[in-house]
Amino acid sequence: MSESIYVRTAVPEDADGIARVHVETWQASYAGVLPDSYLVTMRRRDHARQWHEVLSHAGQRDVALVLEARGETARPAVLGFASAGPARDPKLLYDAEVYTLYVGSDWQGQGLGRLLLGTLFRTLFDRGMEDAMLWVLAENPTRFFYQHMGGQVIARRDEHLAGSAFPALAYGWPDLEAWLRQVGM
Ligand SMILES: CC(C)(COP(=O)(O)OP(=O)(O)OC[C@H]1O[C@@H](n2cnc3c(N)ncnc32)[C@H](O)[C@@H]1OP(=O)(O)O)[C@@H](O)C(=O)NCCC(=O)NCCS
Repeated sequence: MSESIYVRTAVPEDADGIARVHVETWQASYAGVLPDSYLVTMRRRDHARQWHEVLSHAGQRDVALVLEARGETARPAVLGFASAGPARDPKLLYDAEVYTLYVGSDWQGQGLGRLLLGTLFRTLFDRGMEDAMLWVLAENPTRFFYQHMGGQVIARRDEHLAGSAFPALAYGWPDLEAWLRQVGM
């Protein structure tokens, strides 16, 4: 079956598909990092409700994207998603913050994470935001993806999750225009 994969703006009806990928990637990425008791109690239903709320009340500077596959017969399926908006910590002096970026485990390693990040940066830049940053737990190997995508460590802090503190790193892209030009997006 031929399948096309594309990125589009997320709508509230995507909440359930996003929650499926969210819970699945957290459970895969954070096994052995976050307590099992926390990971096994993550409920798709709860996350779907939260995502529906977030997507229903998105501000003008918020961006939410889904990566979707459409086959000839099967219904479209959410394979990944990403969200971003105004940076939450004004002290870092960055315009935009990437809040989430996940590619479902069956779809990783095919260039889709790069496509999502690039589309997110292009959308943020087109909305007037010149630089972007994100937070990631230092123990999450995903941070090497952000490093590979040209992010530079700009800050450190402790993130409080499941009753414990985890070291986290902020990666920054200080010039989105130059980055987009370099990757041809
Ligand atoms: C990180 C993630 C977005 C990468 O997406 P992906 O589709 O697998 O990545 P791509 O195929 O687009 O990779 C693009 C490039 O990055 C590299 N890369 C991907 N993941 C990497 C990693 N973890 N470390 C180092 N490099 C990585 C690839 O090798 C590729 O390099 P190349 O094109 O120069 O050869 C995806 O693995 C993911 O969603 N992981 C789970 C996220 C997570 O941990 N969430 C928990 C909460 S933050």
